[in-house]
Amino acid sequence: MTGERRPTRHVVVMGVSGAGKTTVARGISELTGLRFAEADEFHSEANVARMRSGVPLDDAARWPWLRDLADWMAARHAEGVSTVLACSALKRTYRDLLRQGPPDVEFVHLDGSAELIRDRMARRADHYMPASLLDSQRAILEHLDPDESGVVLEVAQSPEDLVAAAVTRLGLPTGTPAGLR
Ligand SMILES: Nc1ncnc2c1ncn2[C@@H]1O[C@H](COP(=O)(O)OP(=O)(O)OP(=O)(O)O)[C@@H](O)[C@H]1O
Ligand SMILES: [Mg+2]
Repeated sequence: MTGERRPTRHVVVMGVSGAGKTTVARGISELTGLRFAEADEFHSEANVARMRSGVPLDDAARWPWLRDLADWMAARHAEGVSTVLACSALKRTYRDLLRQGPPDVEFVHLDGSAELIRDRMARRADHYMPASLLDSQRAILEHLDPDESGVVLEVAQSPEDLVAAAVTRLGLPTGTPAGLR
């Protein structure tokens, strides 16, 4: 391999709860053919129970989860499959762990006002993340550092515009070429 070519792409749509990660990551997947995964679904039963009861996860509870996510991206990379993951990835250390998976991970940070996100969460009934966790998530959020690969998008836009902006700014190929599935 020359190092010039990127055989796979690995995108993580990050942000606090309710920012629109699942919505936008699914949209990117539909537009580009990158394989979608939901980080929430990699949590252990113990972690899910803890979140349901409104208790934020501590880092000890997150390391094995992040390791599993990194391993999932690395496994897809080994298969030549590109991915898009909906994952909060709030701290630099969490993103560092995700970057230990495939050779390159690019982030899309969905950023916006607490009021807007709180309003969206309040209208969402079928979800285990209570709105009370938003404050704790905002408290630990660390924005992308300049040396981290990725883009920041303002969540006041429509989901369609966010998906289009992510695809354009990351230069993701659209359509569903076989190599990207
Ligand atoms: N850009 C947007 N404009 C308007 N509504 C949106 C937008 N993005 C997402 N939503 C709505 O806001 C709610 C939260 O979106 P979503 O579930 O995608 O967020 P999330 O970041 O995945 O949340 P969680 O961390 O809890 O999984 C949903 O009801 C979704 O339909
Ligand atoms: Mg989600």
